[in-house]
Amino acid sequence: MQIALLGFGVVGGGVYAICQDRSDLRVTRVLVRSDKPEIAAIATRSMDDIVNDPAIDTVAEVMGGIHPAKEYVEAALNAGKHVVTANKALIAACGDELTALAKKNGVSLRCTAAVGGGIPWLVNLERIKRLDTVSEVGGIMNGTTNFIMDAMHTSGAAFGDVLAQAQALGYAEADPSADIDGDDIRRKLAISAGVAFDVSVEETAIPTFGIRTVTDGDITAFRQRGFVCKLLATAMRCQDGVCAFVEPTLVRAGEPEAAVGANYNLITYTADRIGRQSFFGQGAGRFPTAGNVVQDCLDILGGKTAFYADISRRTSLAEDAVSHPYYVRTAAPDEFLRSVTVDTWGGGVITSAVGVDTMLRWAKAKLQEDPGCFVAGIR
Ligand SMILES: NC(=O)c1ccc[n+]([C@@H]2O[C@H](COP(=O)([O-])OP(=O)(O)OC[C@H]3O[C@@H](n4cnc5c(N)ncnc54)[C@H](OP(=O)(O)O)[C@@H]3O)[C@@H](O)[C@H]2O)c1
Repeated sequence: MQIALLGFGVVGGGVYAICQDRSDLRVTRVLVRSDKPEIAAIATRSMDDIVNDPAIDTVAEVMGGIHPAKEYVEAALNAGKHVVTANKALIAACGDELTALAKKNGVSLRCTAAVGGGIPWLVNLERIKRLDTVSEVGGIMNGTTNFIMDAMHTSGAAFGDVLAQAQALGYAEADPSADIDGDDIRRKLAISAGVAFDVSVEETAIPTFGIRTVTDGDITAFRQRGFVCKLLATAMRCQDGVCAFVEPTLVRAGEPEAAVGANYNLITYTADRIGRQSFFGQGAGRFPTAGNVVQDCLDILGGKTAFYADISRRTSLAEDAVSHPYYVRTAAPDEFLRSVTVDTWGGGVITSAVGVDTMLRWAKAKLQEDPGCFVAGIR
């Protein structure tokens, strides 16, 4: 297989290094936008050099972002080349469109590294559907936020200090918003729900609350009561279709998610006959992620042409299909919160079971009035 890489950063460099050790996969072109001396002989700044090279059969898009990645992927598919991508933003936004284009051109589109980095999550989700019905997917799908929550629980440190530590270690970006506000995990959930339930989910339609406002005081209250707080993604079949949400969640110490330390991920599906199966590992990093990109190339080389799911139409998410109690801390309690309050924990209150959409909509609105407001679902 002759591969062209689009991008030569963390993941692209890893794919190149893994392929260097193999005789069946050769990287023969790399699209770059700045000089990369180590690959000068095969670097190009023109996508046309790749599209017009008949010897290249597969394009691995590892540059990120939606534009121009989307246009480059479309050009590759239209030129009859298979595409492998690690780009969750691209797949969450344009996965249906690109899958249709790949089918039209009789080529493959694989994106295993887009969810869970190095974890073989999407391929196993795809496999379980061959023999069972998946009822629920989700879990810890973002290593940065897991690192922060884990460090706050183990050290008792404040959110800002732990975030600075995560940035110093390279686990969090200089602008950590996409991770801590839940956008990254929401994208991965949209892709996973699409594969699990053969639906197309608009990522921004998923109710989401991040961890930006969690305090060490909240964590102390959770620990005293035997809970661990994690940012969890959940999507499930329900009576009216599919529901999905992302929120800080209190899980009991002793549950599998509670034991996931550092920047690890734990992603789970539940299927009707097989039950629960969870996948634990590095959700990011050069070689784990590049490994999944290369595995996708090997699947294509081995003749795998199936797509993860038969997604054809956008699906509206069912509202308030799931209800549970919440921990809520706000300096501006209102009539709604008082009407559902059943207990007090430290600086926060505990509610009776409230619909997830209702609570997360309320919490988002409350942030305008009280920017320090925090909520966590209780499982
Ligand atoms: N890093 C991870 O652990 C991880 C995990 C899962 C998924 N992913 C996904 O993998 C993709 C790549 O991530 P990464 O961490 O490898 O990013 P990165 O280190 O920033 O690398 C991106 C590379 O693409 C190049 N690039 C960007 N725009 C370009 C353009 N228009 N033309 C040519 N080259 C361009 C950059 O060039 P310069 O070097 O000149 O800036 C850089 O070499 C993203 O979609 C990301 O979401 C990453």
